[in-house]
Amino acid sequence: MAQARENKGHRDGGGEHGVSRRTFLGYAAGGIAAFMAASIGFIGLGGVLSPAIKAKSAGHWVKLGRTDDFPPDRPRKVDLEIAMKDGWMETTQAKSVWVVKDQSGEFRVFNSRCTHLGCIVNWKESDKRFFSPCHAGVFDIQGEVTGGPAPRSLDALEHRIDRDELWCNYEDFVLGVPEKKSV
Ligand code: FES
Repeated sequence: MAQARENKGHRDGGGEHGVSRRTFLGYAAGGIAAFMAASIGFIGLGGVLSPAIKAKSAGHWVKLGRTDDFPPDRPRKVDLEIAMKDGWMETTQAKSVWVVKDQSGEFRVFNSRCTHLGCIVNWKESDKRFFSPCHAGVFDIQGEVTGGPAPRSLDALEHRIDRDELWCNYEDFVLGVPEKKSV
């Protein structure tokens, strides 16, 4: 009798205190289903998170001032405070741009970071040039490199005029490379 009870337990793959093969397979199938559901949920969550992460490299439209605040052929620096988002972190960063208006009233707006290693360029009226305080980088009023190691011209920013106000889409670009690529 004891022998028969032992054999029955072996056939079911468990016994009174063990887990039968059928029960075990049920647990395994449930575990796999739960894992797949969690994976799909994670992928879905990634879709929700990605806009916040992408916001890091998106531009920021900022008002620079009235168009008649900028005299022709006299570049003017405008300091900005930009709210930057990196994942869940939000910080305010001090940035600046150079606004150049020509005699015909056309605007150019440059990111003030030297394209070599990012030092802020300054306009020197007596030389009619932008100078980088580091490594002797020099740019003309069009932003073109005229001296030093900068690999490309100053980074021109998208801009627009709305009811006599000048706006620009502030953006940083990868430094030290010939191509203008968003950070
Ligand atoms: S950072 Fe401007 S020349 Fe190096």
